[in-house]
Amino acid sequence: MAKAWGGAFSQATDPRVEKFTESISFDARLAEVDIRGSQAHARMLAEVGLISAAERDAIITTLDEIGSEISQGKMAWKIELEDIHMHIESALIVRLGDTGRKLHTGRSRNDQVATDLKLWVRGAIDELDELLADVQRAFVGRSDADQDVVLPGYTHLQRAQPVMAVHYWLAYCEKFARDRERLADCRKRVNISPLGAAALAGSSLPIDRHLSAKLLGFDGVAANSLDVSSDRDFEIEFVSTLALIAAHLSTWAEEWILWCTTEFSYLKLPHAYTTGSSIMPQKRNPDVLELIRGKSARVIASAQQLFLLVKGLPMAYNRDLQEDKLALFAAFDTIKSCLELAPSIVAGAQLQLDKINARLEEGFLDATTLMEYLILRGVPMRTGHEVVGKLVALCESRKCKLAEVPLSDLQQACDKITADVSQVLGTHNVVAALKSYGSGGRGPVLERLTEWQQRLEAN
Ligand code: ARG
Repeated sequence: MAKAWGGAFSQATDPRVEKFTESISFDARLAEVDIRGSQAHARMLAEVGLISAAERDAIITTLDEIGSEISQGKMAWKIELEDIHMHIESALIVRLGDTGRKLHTGRSRNDQVATDLKLWVRGAIDELDELLADVQRAFVGRSDADQDVVLPGYTHLQRAQPVMAVHYWLAYCEKFARDRERLADCRKRVNISPLGAAALAGSSLPIDRHLSAKLLGFDGVAANSLDVSSDRDFEIEFVSTLALIAAHLSTWAEEWILWCTTEFSYLKLPHAYTTGSSIMPQKRNPDVLELIRGKSARVIASAQQLFLLVKGLPMAYNRDLQEDKLALFAAFDTIKSCLELAPSIVAGAQLQLDKINARLEEGFLDATTLMEYLILRGVPMRTGHEVVGKLVALCESRKCKLAEVPLSDLQQACDKITADVSQVLGTHNVVAALKSYGSGGRGPVLERLTEWQQRLEAN
């Protein structure tokens, strides 16, 4: 088959080279954006008089036909045609002859690929934003049922202070909100048109890049053809954000895997999202959560892959860049599959309140609030810390809780303590007492919950 670029060549390409250099096996999924980009390009070419209105219409209609054949799986992929761009263009030429031969006027595959990728990433951002909102809604959605639940909070995985369960759920909402902001911010730089930058230097033809950009819904036109024809920063930003989403999902998965252990017994996962063991009949394994944790490696690695790909590339387009799609698609597909499953797991998991409550008073979760009680009575913070530390040691030797120490013993440790100390001892008193903005106490958490409910109704 003659190559679109074969004019200056005296030898046919070695078939092994065709196999080595093809990208159709992974860039076919750009077909839809490629066609949209070409249709806008054809409209622009007609507007500036480089093709006629009749040629424009023939190109647009035929591209639609080619697009529906591709989506029905009717297009046979040939590695000789290398990539999706050549497949679509050659199908157009087969059907339209010379009219089809005009489509590539004033552009190159370099700006075409960059344009396709930007359109594709823009769609991917919008899709993931929805999926992230669904995860947030799942966390907020379970907050009604969990409104009175108190959980131990940990640092170093050691019991630290109690917080409302809803505080945990909203903590994940915050993380995913930042991810959504990052995606929205990345979208601004994605949404600048490369089209018409051509190979690297632009064109001597009277193309109107602003028009094609507008037709494609871009917010602006890239100002330097050399830069934008090879720019993959937007992919790195996008995939780096996906890496952070993966890290957040992995943290959540790890936490819930722990909570499902017999040792913790905080949580039961819905059976539909666990799997059994082929040998141990009693097992219900959190495989989905484990794979969400495990698949995060692929997403984080994809960000690394893109960095390594561009590091050291000279200006402008280099064929290395063809490899970008593998990392981009792997990261997107992985994150999407995780985000699609997460809401059902979040919504379906059941807190084991009997187990949680039975052990809620273990671990001196009220020690810090007792220290703050002393501070409010004029005791310097460091002194209060020491006093409570000694009381904890006393409790450990007596195998009792702070709330069970007789008032006289408490007063012996510090004469500022009075009978009202009972109001800050015990886990439920602590969550009632925590009141700083953003804290895990009942009041602030319920205020934040209302805000989140309103926010997620809007988007
Ligand atoms: N298949 C190539 C890619 O995906 C298309 C760009 C080819 N450009 C070139 N100058 N050879 O990157």
